[in-house]
Amino acid sequence: MTLSKRISTIQPSPTLALNTKANNLRKSGHTVLNFSVGEPDYPTPSIVVEQAIASLRAGRTKYTPAGGGPELRQAIAHKLMRDNQVQFSPEQIVVGIGAKEILFHIFLSLLNDGDEVILTAPCWVSYADQIKAAGAIPVIVPIPESGPISISDIEKYASPKTKAFVLNTPNNPSGYVLTESFTKELGQYLATKNWWIVSDEIYEYMAFDSPHFCPLKVCPELKSRYILVNGFSKSFSMTGWRVGYMAGPAEVVALVKSLQSHSSTCIPGFIEDACVVAINAGPSLMADDIAKLRSRRELAVQTLDQLGGFKYIRPQGAYYVYIDVRTCLKNEKTSLQLSEELLEKHHLAMAPGEAFGSPGWLRLSYAVDEKTLVEGIKKLHKALIQI
Ligand SMILES: Cc1ncc(COP(=O)(O)O)c(C=O)c1O
Repeated sequence: MTLSKRISTIQPSPTLALNTKANNLRKSGHTVLNFSVGEPDYPTPSIVVEQAIASLRAGRTKYTPAGGGPELRQAIAHKLMRDNQVQFSPEQIVVGIGAKEILFHIFLSLLNDGDEVILTAPCWVSYADQIKAAGAIPVIVPIPESGPISISDIEKYASPKTKAFVLNTPNNPSGYVLTESFTKELGQYLATKNWWIVSDEIYEYMAFDSPHFCPLKVCPELKSRYILVNGFSKSFSMTGWRVGYMAGPAEVVALVKSLQSHSSTCIPGFIEDACVVAINAGPSLMADDIAKLRSRRELAVQTLDQLGGFKYIRPQGAYYVYIDVRTCLKNEKTSLQLSEELLEKHHLAMAPGEAFGSPGWLRLSYAVDEKTLVEGIKKLHKALIQI
């Protein structure tokens, strides 16, 4: 019996696999310092939890409309204007089971066999595999030696087969946040191309040096092919609730909604109600937690600077530090092997650059308590020096 060739090319999510390994080591009695997880360590706000409980009690336990109920889509449209100054009607919004599912359905809706999609490294773990699952080819622009990507770097990888371009600001794993001037330049470049633009803005509330701005606000000329992706996982510490959404052109909305109707159908009604409470409260609901993350970023970079010995990208947003370990890799060791060794020998879990299209790097999540953060960085430094 044969299996799907297309799906057989896909790798299980390496960050989730690493997290499972770290948890198994923990269960067998080891103290593991886990910096591999992509989720905030603080809880979902209690007003959100209370709303879910009240809605459950009130019987919001039946199917809801595919693609999201009207109240939640209305609240998201309002939020997009309030926080991002971009206008979408509730009909231009689709809600699904996490931004992950929404992105998957966007790629399935946009792409045909052999189409190419440009990603810039380092990039989030699932884009490339989702694109492959849709029959298309991820084309990864490598991470430049001297700072963020430039237009000429991107142009080298453009081809007549390019169908879409993926943007992610603030970026997982590098913490880069697009500047307004670069976004304008990028917008002018993208305006000359006939590509779909998929813009993943899921870390928008975690921009520490300057506030996140939606690229569409700066480049309104891209509106007819701009697909904005966001979700509740990071903004409101709701990773386990599984809610994400897109806003975009009617033809894309129709296909994504159709896919939702044949797959997960809808998100639960009580979760929709809780999301309305979260999104209406907005970023001020999370201000203390975000301030804590900002000070942890300072602690992480100060500790790295004090210890010295390796380069890293100074994060401007999200909650990761991306560390360049290429000089520590000897005897053809890869960063994937290094991350396995760090976990097995030193009980330190950090995601390898292979997961983000840039081997030779490690991603450290600083969404952990301060003591663990400092202890872990010191342990990493010691381990890397020994290698
Ligand atoms: C850049 C980026 N996009 C999308 C997602 C998916 O988020 P979720 O499916 O939890 O909404 C993640 C999660 O780690 C992410 O880091």
